[in-house]
Formats: sequence, structure tokens, C-alpha cells
Amino acid sequence: MVHRRLRILMVSSEVESLARTGGLGDVVEALSLALAELGQEVLVVTPLYGVTRLPGTTVRWPGTVPVRFGWGSQDVRQASVVETSAVRFSSGGSRRVCLLDDPALYRRQGIYEDMWGPFGDNALRFAVMSRGALEIAARVWDGGPDVVHAHDWHAAFAVLYAKLVMGDGWARKRCVFTIHNLAFQGVLDADVLDRLHLPRAAFRPEVLWHDGHVNLMKGATALAEHITTVSPTYAREILAPAGGFGLDGHLRAHAHRLTGILNGIDEKRFDPQSDVALAERYDASSFVRGRLTCKHALADEVGLERGEGPLFGCVARLTSQKGTDLLVPLLPELVARGARFVVVGQGERSLEDQLLWAAEAFPGKVAVRIAFDPRLSRRVYAGTDFFVVPSRFEPCGLTQMYAMRYGSLPVVTDVGGLHDTVDADVGFLASRADVEQLGAACRAALDRFADPEAHAATIRRAMARDFAWRGSAERYLSLYRAPA
Ligand code: GLC
Repeated sequence: MVHRRLRILMVSSEVESLARTGGLGDVVEALSLALAELGQEVLVVTPLYGVTRLPGTTVRWPGTVPVRFGWGSQDVRQASVVETSAVRFSSGGSRRVCLLDDPALYRRQGIYEDMWGPFGDNALRFAVMSRGALEIAARVWDGGPDVVHAHDWHAAFAVLYAKLVMGDGWARKRCVFTIHNLAFQGVLDADVLDRLHLPRAAFRPEVLWHDGHVNLMKGATALAEHITTVSPTYAREILAPAGGFGLDGHLRAHAHRLTGILNGIDEKRFDPQSDVALAERYDASSFVRGRLTCKHALADEVGLERGEGPLFGCVARLTSQKGTDLLVPLLPELVARGARFVVVGQGERSLEDQLLWAAEAFPGKVAVRIAFDPRLSRRVYAGTDFFVVPSRFEPCGLTQMYAMRYGSLPVVTDVGGLHDTVDADVGFLASRADVEQLGAACRAALDRFADPEAHAATIRRAMARDFAWRGSAERYLSLYRAPA
């Protein structure tokens, strides 16, 4: 069957090359490019933050785009648009990125928060992003997009405005809403209905109402033609009370529209053969030497002793989801058995402190960098023997895939996307997210390390795993085209 090229609008608060705090940005960047490579016309809209890293060549659109955010006729913001260079593929597909420039809302030193905490006007900021995205798409394409693909609660407004307030033309658009993390739902006081142009009629239990509050994720999942999440196992987990964060009943009622599509990784950007951040580059035939050089360089960089023993790493946002607290009680035993440990991450103060204390208790053996540092992260994938992801829940998780691509063997809890990407051929699974099971998985890793041939064979299998986006992008594409 010959398909018409689709016009796909993607709305997201993060895009990896511009501004990101986590996996959401990686996914929007890589998925939008993969869809364009498959021949589609993709437009990504995201805000221009104070922390955005703008590329050298950008174009500012003439004039401004009026963005309505409230019911009053005066509730309109005049935003301008900065566009980066389009990426075009031989398939005829293209990807454009437009940044919504509203300095009063976005030109701050953070995406969601700064050193003083979360911004108090995040609902307005992301309502304007979402509404602005629809306005921009209407200018880019006569008749607007074919598909509106909104990511996480910030972009839920795009589905709500399209379906509820912008008229029939928009209400008929195919909407796809992706849940990257159900722990963040966009729960707001009911007064936002009037302030942010959401109809009171939608404030009912089937749509926006949840426990007396406005719940944006509930509304968007109720109204979008398709709901996706980022791994098949997570798609099952969120239908049960333990993983549903209060929305499992609602999601069960819509389960026929819910699909789990595993994230891929950008295998060009994450490639130990070409990664200039590494002390030595290597591939599947040269990893023994290359990874050893990287291991020594990493030890020097973070202040660990050099040595022949196993080196474990972990890169994570420090939140309870990520389970780094489960690692801490295991450190004395691992260190006693000759292991060293490096953790890179930032987040909740108490989790940061806990790790910093551990580093102080084991100088030269445990190193902690409180940072969000993509280049150092890649040196951790390349320089460690094992990469621990002790998450309590994990919608997909990308770091375990990056680690495998760089030859660091994943030691993970058997949840969500970790379950879907790691098995005994390439890594080590803890059947539950607790200290005991995680300890057992780490011990299994130590045993593997003690057998260099088996260890090298496992690395070879891990590096050969295919996590390319193409397959998953094709699944999104068939969903965009599937009847609602
Ligand atoms: C969120 C999830 C993570 C997922 C990422 C990209 O950060 O917590 O599991 O990999 O989104 O989808």
C-alpha cells in the first residue's frame, strides 16, 4: 500500500539537542528524526528557555504568533518563533524544530525549576507551549497537521485544546498521547479551568476530574485517539494499582487504546566508535583494550583508585524512582570484594547526601559526582564493567541501552522497560527492587567478572544488541494511521 506522507506535530517540553533533563528529550529528538527518515514531515515545537542551547544558525519568524491561554479576549500572549535548520532526508521526509519564544515565561535558568524550586506558573507555561504549538502548526501547514503527538503532562494541553476548544477542524485531528512517566500527571487546582481555557464541562470523572483536582494526563488519555507508553511491560504495569499512580482504573477503561512501544536509542550519537568524549574509541573487535583505557581514565577523572577489580557505575536522576538508595547498603560488601563504584546524578538533596557520605566513607573506592553531565555519563558507560539501574519502576529507561552499546553490562531491577531490554544473555536482573535481590544480581556480576572469557562474551552480545529507533518509529507510524 502506498501511504500519503503524514504531517506530524510533536509537542514536548524537552528536546535533547536544545534542553533536557532526562530521557524525554532523547526520545523526542531521536523519534522525530526517525519518523522524518521514514519519509514523514515532522514539526517539533518546544519552548525557548534560558537554558536552551541554540545552534549557530536559526531564523526568527517575522512578527508574532498570538497564543490564547484564557477565556477572556485579552488573554492572548504574543510569542515569537525561532526556527532551527530543517533536517531533510532522501526519503523526502523532513524535520523542523520551532522554539516558542515568550521571554517572560521561559527565559529562566531551568526547564521546570531553578535553584529556588519549581516555577509557580508551570501550568501556564506549558499551556502556552501547547496552544502555541497548534498555532505554529496551523501556519506551517495549510489545514494544520494530520497528527498531534503530545508527550507527557506538559503537552497534554495540546490534546485538550485540540479536542475541546479549537473547533471541529482540530477536534477531528488524530491525537496520540505518550506517557513517559505516570508519576507526573499534571495535577492542578480546579481554578485553572477558567484561567487556562479548559471547559468546565470537561471537569468530570471521565475526563479531567480526578480526586477533586484537574488531572491533565487523565484528560489527555481520555480524549486522544491513541495512548502509548514507552515499553510493553510498563503498558501492563500501569493498569495495576501498584504501577497506576491512581490512574490504573481509568487506564484500564481505555486499555484497548493503549500500546507499549519500546524506545530506541540514537545509535549515531551514542557510539563508542566515534564518541569524542572517550579517552579511547573502540568497537566490538577492539573493546578489550579500548574499554580498559577508558576505565583507567574514568578512575583518574572521578578520583578512584586505578585497579584491575570490577568497576560499577550508575547515572541517574536522584529520585526515589531510580532506587539509588538501594545501592548504598550494598557498598561495604562490594568494596570488600574488590569493587569500585562511581555514581553521577543530581536530584533530591537527601539522596545526594546519602551518596556523598558513602563516597566519604570509602575514599578511592566510591566516587560521586552531583551533576547532570552527558559527556561524563558516556565516559561512565565506556569505562565501567557493570552499569546498575536499581529503579523501583522504570517506564523504559535509556541508560541501560546506552551502557550495553558501550559494553558495560547492565545490572537492573526486573521492571518496566528494563525487563524488556535486559536478559540473562547480556546482563543481570534483580527480581525485586530491594537490597537483597539487587545484592544477588551484583554478586552474579562479580562472578561473571571473575571469568574473563565469559565476561568478554557477554560484552560482545550486549554490544551487538539492536536498539535502533527504526522499528519503533514504524510502530508509531502505523499507530498514526490506524483507525481510532
Ligand atoms: C522518563 C522515564 C524513563 C523513560 C524516559 C523516556 O524519563 O522515567 O523510563 O526512558 O521517560 O521515555
